[in-house]
Amino acid sequence: MTHSPGHRGTTASLTDRAFLEAHWMPFTGNRQFKAAPRLLTHAEGAYYTDVEGRKIFDGLSGLWCTGLGHGRREIVEAVSRQIASLDYAPAFQFGHPLSFELANRIVERMPKGLDHVMFAGGSGSDAVDSSLKLARAFWRVKAQGGKTRLIGRLQAYHGVNFGGISVGGMVANRKPYGQGIEAGHLAGIQPPAGSFFRGQPAEHGAKLADSLLGLIELYDASTIAAVIVEPFSGSGGVIIPPRGYLQRLREICDQHGILLIFDEVITGFGRCGAWTGAEAFGVTPDMLVFAKQSTNGVQPLSGVVVKKEIYDTFMAAGGQEYLLEIAHGYTYSAHPVACAAGIATLDLIARENVLERVRELTPRFEHAVHGLRGARHVLDIRNYGMAAGLTLEALPGEPARRPFEVAMAMFNKGFYVRYGGATIQLAPPFISTEAEIDRLAEVLGETLNQTD
Ligand SMILES: Cc1ncc(COP(=O)(O)O)c(C=O)c1O
Repeated sequence: MTHSPGHRGTTASLTDRAFLEAHWMPFTGNRQFKAAPRLLTHAEGAYYTDVEGRKIFDGLSGLWCTGLGHGRREIVEAVSRQIASLDYAPAFQFGHPLSFELANRIVERMPKGLDHVMFAGGSGSDAVDSSLKLARAFWRVKAQGGKTRLIGRLQAYHGVNFGGISVGGMVANRKPYGQGIEAGHLAGIQPPAGSFFRGQPAEHGAKLADSLLGLIELYDASTIAAVIVEPFSGSGGVIIPPRGYLQRLREICDQHGILLIFDEVITGFGRCGAWTGAEAFGVTPDMLVFAKQSTNGVQPLSGVVVKKEIYDTFMAAGGQEYLLEIAHGYTYSAHPVACAAGIATLDLIARENVLERVRELTPRFEHAVHGLRGARHVLDIRNYGMAAGLTLEALPGEPARRPFEVAMAMFNKGFYVRYGGATIQLAPPFISTEAEIDRLAEVLGETLNQTD
């Protein structure tokens, strides 16, 4: 049978191996997937429907991006209206009103001082690399062009572009790609196996952050442009900063003239029960990277919010007014349709008191996931807001196998959860009911106990 784009085949043809071959899927075991495909065809609220017509609970909000649930009418309508009126506008040298409207709304929701938005191409990876380039260029404009080194952290995830994998700390994402950019890495902050922390671990935050002092001693602050961290790490396995950690990083960066960047691709726009992780943890960075939840996953939109001093520095050094202040941008920076989705999403979050809802639901979610302590294979559990990670005891030589098997068994039971490294990750939609949260944990417990 031949397939054309938009072809609506039977279940049998859609899952036919030959049909599936052409697409080389991202971050997926292609051979396994194509042998046993998991195809989703519809989504509404907290549920997907798969190609067999089964309902699947969305236990990771897509990829941490659809917290408001799927098929939100307000976003669908905003996107449809925008496509019909202005489907694209050149991102360079011309503009459209929605990017300005959205930038204003984003700035209103940022901690005080973060007040200019540079949109990126739509992915978190683009936005991360934009922030790293901005950091280097900032110091160069200030006649400190030697400040080029970028500091990340072990176990961190900052997307897949060269800047992001260089500051990132997940070995599998770095190893195949050769030399990255000049980077350094803070010590990891994952508590030892056997820890069961609810929210932020109470101890050693400042001491862990002091690992930055060691890097400053090694490289000297005169060579360091910026430190980038996720307020809490999601893709690395949900790793929560101990109390005082981010505060101490802020202090050291200030003392040594180093920019602090928060990668809020996961923590921004609701998951922490606040507009940003910066707000939730009480620390304001110099730049804040956002993506995912900013459009509820409906359109790709991403960017960097910078503080006034950074923006003003570039404007002051810009030379004649018609010249570029910085040579950077993407064809799809602030795409009008993505901006329409962004405006509708931010409005919904505000109108429906979503942040409050997340704060209310968090204790129930925390209780449910920590109820898995004692389930088979579980080494540790941690959570913050509507995110939780469990580390499973590894099979000898195959740390990733058990989480994969658990996730597959969960899918067969109608629950989508993410597996990554030795972990299972949960990030249910903000609109989940308490009963859905309880059921997710209950079925995960059963599945763990049934897994060898
Ligand atoms: C903290 C963080 N930064 C960057 C990214 C990359 O985003 P994208 O996959 O949209 O490029 C992710 C994706 O999960 C992320 O969690």
